[in-house]
Amino acid sequence: MKKNIVLVGFMGCGKSTIGKVLSYKLNAQFLDTDTQIQKDMKMAITDIFANYGEEYFRMLERNLCKLIAVNEPLIVATGGGIIKNKANLDALKVNGSIFYIKSSPEKIYSNIKNDTSRPLLNGTSDKLKRIKELLEERAPLYESCADFVVDTTNSQIDGTVSMIIKIMKENNYDWGTA
Ligand code: S3P
Repeated sequence: MKKNIVLVGFMGCGKSTIGKVLSYKLNAQFLDTDTQIQKDMKMAITDIFANYGEEYFRMLERNLCKLIAVNEPLIVATGGGIIKNKANLDALKVNGSIFYIKSSPEKIYSNIKNDTSRPLLNGTSDKLKRIKELLEERAPLYESCADFVVDTTNSQIDGTVSMIIKIMKENNYDWGTA
């Protein structure tokens, strides 16, 4: 079985870095939905939100998910809001397994407290509070779509990658070099 490995989870939980390391270890192709959208639009996410609005960005995400559904095998890191649209998950599940990269609000905050590239966390005086509110709203969506949950609260990137590879082996994913 060589399905796509799709990483979902809240902003700043490390999906992109984990995906890159995982793809390196598996000698697999890596796709980051945010990076791809920025490349296609030749524009930063903050500028897409500012110029066209969030709905437009969500439409770009939807279109990309449909493309991912006909490509494999890929390691895919998704934007944190991908779970807001069930059609995205349906598309990603066609040929992929969903791994929820779970993290605590405190760890997420410490990862991204000085970052200004995430429009949904800008313009608030209390970023941790905003993270907690959004995470509370989204956690059930991450949990319910996940084939596997990987709790990273007490692990670093390498440990998380090892956990994912272990899950893949236990579930007979044939990715060769892992
Ligand atoms: C978003 C998460 C971001 C990016 C956009 C919206 C979200 O991706 O797609 O800012 O709604 O959670 P990361 O999860 O990579 O930060």
